[in-house]
Amino acid sequence: MVNLNVDIAGVTLKNPVMPASGTYEYTGMHNSIFPPDKLGAVVTKTIFIEPREGNKPPRICETPCGMLNSIGIPTEGVDSFIKNNLPLLAGYGVPVIVSIAGDTIEDFCEIANIIEGTGKADLLELNLSCPNLNHGIEWARNKKQLYRIIKKIKESTHIPIIAKLSPSVDDISEMALIAESAGANAVALINTYKGMKIDIGKRRPFLGNTAGGLSGPAVHPLAVYAIFSTFKKISIPIVGIGGIASWKDAIEMILAGSAAVGVGMYNFVNPAVMGEVIEGIEHYLAENNFDCPADLIGLAHF
Ligand SMILES: Cc1cc2nc3c(=O)[nH]c(=O)nc-3n(C[C@H](O)[C@H](O)[C@H](O)COP(=O)(O)O)c2cc1C
Repeated sequence: MVNLNVDIAGVTLKNPVMPASGTYEYTGMHNSIFPPDKLGAVVTKTIFIEPREGNKPPRICETPCGMLNSIGIPTEGVDSFIKNNLPLLAGYGVPVIVSIAGDTIEDFCEIANIIEGTGKADLLELNLSCPNLNHGIEWARNKKQLYRIIKKIKESTHIPIIAKLSPSVDDISEMALIAESAGANAVALINTYKGMKIDIGKRRPFLGNTAGGLSGPAVHPLAVYAIFSTFKKISIPIVGIGGIASWKDAIEMILAGSAAVGVGMYNFVNPAVMGEVIEGIEHYLAENNFDCPADLIGLAHF
């Protein structure tokens, strides 16, 4: 009998599959195709304290094997989120991971406190790596800043935190080690890679914000390497994200060292993909005589 439970920072997930932040509409149309209560956890789009409009359109474009987005985190703001969405999320009966960001360390600490005060979030994911905000990616690229922000947030909240890191650094494993030493309870690898498309008719950048973040199958091998190279350096769990399009991609990520996985852009291609990934992991474990996902973590290392 396979048991799909996994543990992330003391929180039990009934399976290792969650949406990547910003790619799953938990309040609307996806519910009929893939219900949130089947997930290991629900993860919100990143929220800020104050409402924001996001970037100028066009905000997305397709690329071979992926997509570029420069959404720029439009958000209703934390008050409206708490009033309108958090109760709904908490009602699904699965752990709730709230993704947060801010313009300053103080903002991050304040929003963490506000969310903690609701008692409705199980984990906080710190979006330290958004390439579509003015300085959004810098938290995850500057070693001192990364240490400082995580340390400060840890001092001001009791909810376990997942630090979401950027692949656009020399060595992501070093940044993960810094995140761990500052007190992060888990890391999420990876956010998108900065990229761009040029409209050759207009001879201008296609996206309204010039550049965007690349995600989807194109980044999967890069994400697997990021996870593989980090796994042996840290002892906190890794949530593996990047280009998962099938259960096989998710298994690769677990074998590289992920304790759980986040499915992002592929939710737009196949809204049933997360269910297929959960089933595929279960069958793979059963067929290969493993008891649980934890038995697979990091097995590709030699
Ligand atoms: C449309 C879109 C919106 C996203 N919004 C967020 C966000 O709000 N916060 C965040 O941390 N990551 C965000 N991401 C990044 C994803 O969570 C994920 O890290 C990245 O897309 C890589 O996974 P994928 O290749 O499976 O999409 C977004 C990605 C896409 C495609």
